[in-house]
Amino acid sequence: MHVSLLYGGWQSPPLSEGSQAGFLRMDLGGAVMNETMKVHKQEAARSALELVAPGMVVGLGHGSTVLWAVRLLAAWLQEGRLRDVTVVPCSILIEREAKALGIPLKQLDDVPHLDLVLDGADELTPALDCIKGGGGALLKEKILAQATDTLIIIADSSKLSPALGTHWPVPVECVPWGRRFQVAYLESLGATVVLRRNAEGQAFQTEQGNIILDCDFGPIVDPARLARQLSARAGIVEHGLFLDMAREALLAGPQGLQRLRRQ
Ligand code: A5P
Repeated sequence: MHVSLLYGGWQSPPLSEGSQAGFLRMDLGGAVMNETMKVHKQEAARSALELVAPGMVVGLGHGSTVLWAVRLLAAWLQEGRLRDVTVVPCSILIEREAKALGIPLKQLDDVPHLDLVLDGADELTPALDCIKGGGGALLKEKILAQATDTLIIIADSSKLSPALGTHWPVPVECVPWGRRFQVAYLESLGATVVLRRNAEGQAFQTEQGNIILDCDFGPIVDPARLARQLSARAGIVEHGLFLDMAREALLAGPQGLQRLRRQ
């Protein structure tokens, strides 16, 4: 029931027109592959919870992998395998699930710091730079990531990529007003731009009431430069490039669990 709740609201970024390669999530169709990925996401979530200690304040991002972490955390708290853990959720979906399962919650403004943050990613490099925002929660995810020294990415290993932009567009959250000028700006930076839509075909709205433009740049040669160009633009609220933010990544895949740490 909870999974369908998530996927009911989930919008995979659409393929850019004319894109040949397509993005990973699109390529991996089929129930068998989805089931395998689900198991890997659960495994990544489980291994991350082993890093949680009693008394910790844990920030949680958004997405299906984080949702597994919420369910497992609730079970571990109930069993007494973990105790005295407070969660700061970054999305309505995660907050609702955690609340329903009885996990103690606080808002970000009510805690002095976050001991660690667990969050998913859409694409990440071995250096732990990420593209995030496939679920539309990139702004609050980035605020959460800034509030900790320990951002841990949990994902299935298919998210690993040699260069950001190879498998996934960069989500760019914009205020709706004047959107055509943001599209033109993003195109001038080399992107093929697609307005994200919800299941009803209307413009997807973030929790902040903004739109998302999914920008296919292809493999990005200089992500730091692109991040600066996006951040410098009025009307762009936030972008999905999370550079130099993750401390480590727990990636589960056919070869088992991979633990990558930033040097
Ligand atoms: C949410 O906005 C995203 O950044 C998610 O963290 C990302 O899409 C990962 O999602 P899954 O855990 O569902 O793969």
